[in-house]
Amino acid sequence: MEQERQQWRSKMGFLLAASGSAIGLGNIVVFSANAYKYGAGAFYLPYLIALVLVGLPVMWLEFGLGQTQQRAFPQAMGNIGGKWGEIAGWWALLNATIITMFYVAILGWVLGMWWKALMGTLWEPTAALMGFKMASLPNPTGSFFALISSWSNVIFVAIVWLLNIALVLKGARSIETGVKLMMPLMWLFMLVLVIVGLSQPNGIHGIYLLFTPNFKALGSYAVWNGAFSQIFFTLSLGFGVMTAYASYLPKKADHTTNALIVSTMNCSFEMISGLAIFTLVFAFALTPKASTLAMMFFVVPKGIAQLSVGYQVLGVLFFTLLLVAGLSSSISLIEALAAAVIDKFQFKRTKVILWIAGIGVLGSIACALPKIIDPGLASNGTLGLTILDLVDHYASKYGLLLVGIIECLIIGWMMPISKLREALNEHASIKIGVWFDVLIKFVIPILLLIPIALTVLDTMKKGLYGSKYVLGGINILPAATAIFWAAFTFGGAFLLTTLQASKNAKK
Ligand code: PHE
Repeated sequence: MEQERQQWRSKMGFLLAASGSAIGLGNIVVFSANAYKYGAGAFYLPYLIALVLVGLPVMWLEFGLGQTQQRAFPQAMGNIGGKWGEIAGWWALLNATIITMFYVAILGWVLGMWWKALMGTLWEPTAALMGFKMASLPNPTGSFFALISSWSNVIFVAIVWLLNIALVLKGARSIETGVKLMMPLMWLFMLVLVIVGLSQPNGIHGIYLLFTPNFKALGSYAVWNGAFSQIFFTLSLGFGVMTAYASYLPKKADHTTNALIVSTMNCSFEMISGLAIFTLVFAFALTPKASTLAMMFFVVPKGIAQLSVGYQVLGVLFFTLLLVAGLSSSISLIEALAAAVIDKFQFKRTKVILWIAGIGVLGSIACALPKIIDPGLASNGTLGLTILDLVDHYASKYGLLLVGIIECLIIGWMMPISKLREALNEHASIKIGVWFDVLIKFVIPILLLIPIALTVLDTMKKGLYGSKYVLGGINILPAATAIFWAAFTFGGAFLLTTLQASKNAKK
């Protein structure tokens, strides 16, 4: 017998959960690292265009899918696209599972750094450690490498998985309780951070840098590629998350407005955190890094350390903010997968969550392995960091945008999209026009295909991504990760789709 599907207790609960999913590490550190990498002011315009042209319409699509089908992503896609629709849906979720694994691993490191900040050891000089020339590394860089080269980092990762389990165990109910507590805290902490940043005498340099447009950069494909990926990641699109969350609201919900609220909250949080980080970093003339991890673990803590008073408190606050924002995102990834497995197989929730966590924690630990395999890996001195970098490349550079294309094509052409638009409009106070159909059926798939094609061309020219990683003198790691990614996502998707078929066949 089919279990009764859970629902949010209130519309507010849904909005908090969906914006909690959207607002995460992507807003705080990935955004500022990307903005810096693509020339700061140069990033804004492509970012806003990507938001309006791709982000918002795809969020309408994913909310509308959950609303009309009242099912998690694979089943909803299967209702429209048949067997191949379902395979695509599972594939998206398995790609998201890989992202969950490293997202939680990073949150484990955040917890480790939070602990060091709390204990006051974050800014202390670090002794030479496990072959690293730590003494020469400025802190907190040294602190971070000390953390990830020791097994204690694995314990922190395991703790973050436990926190996730506690938050998703009761599904929408426990998530709703969690986000009602976490979201106000997150906004409050960010507000403190931005006030501190803006009150720095030289903080204004950061604002200039961030907001002075640079129109020349618009000609660079990399900037556009970065903007599209950023929008997908930050709005939690292409993960099946928004569909699962929307399916827990009744059919009469106004999802046009909901998507406007969620994306506005998300992107304003992103702007504010961009301000906080750029002012903190440039007030002290630090050189930011274009890498997310460096921004999060080295640059911002170093900026905070320059404050004459309260730097310890602010350090703890910064890592608490990252942890809270990250947790409200990782739970949505886990819930999207749990919802799909429960919808399909009708297993007990507790069992499903424990299975997901069991497999997830192994993946996260692989991304957090402390052992140094090759000193030649330079700054990527641990095996875990190398694996994380490689799987991130496949899951984020190809996976996310491919899911975007597939969902637009399947829903756009097979449903077809006009039906979804009418369903959205039926309960909406703002009506969406026919231009939405054109965007979903033609414009967005083409826009998303370009960056993927360019990345493939680039790979053909330069060789497999990550060829610089060598394991014991042999270059097997990049190929092995690519094969793992493909086998896990494609193999898993076929398996999960056919399992149902064989069950039906037995009936
Ligand atoms: N949107 C989250 C962030 O910005 C990442 C995320 C993606 C979370 C997908 C959940 C699902 O950090």
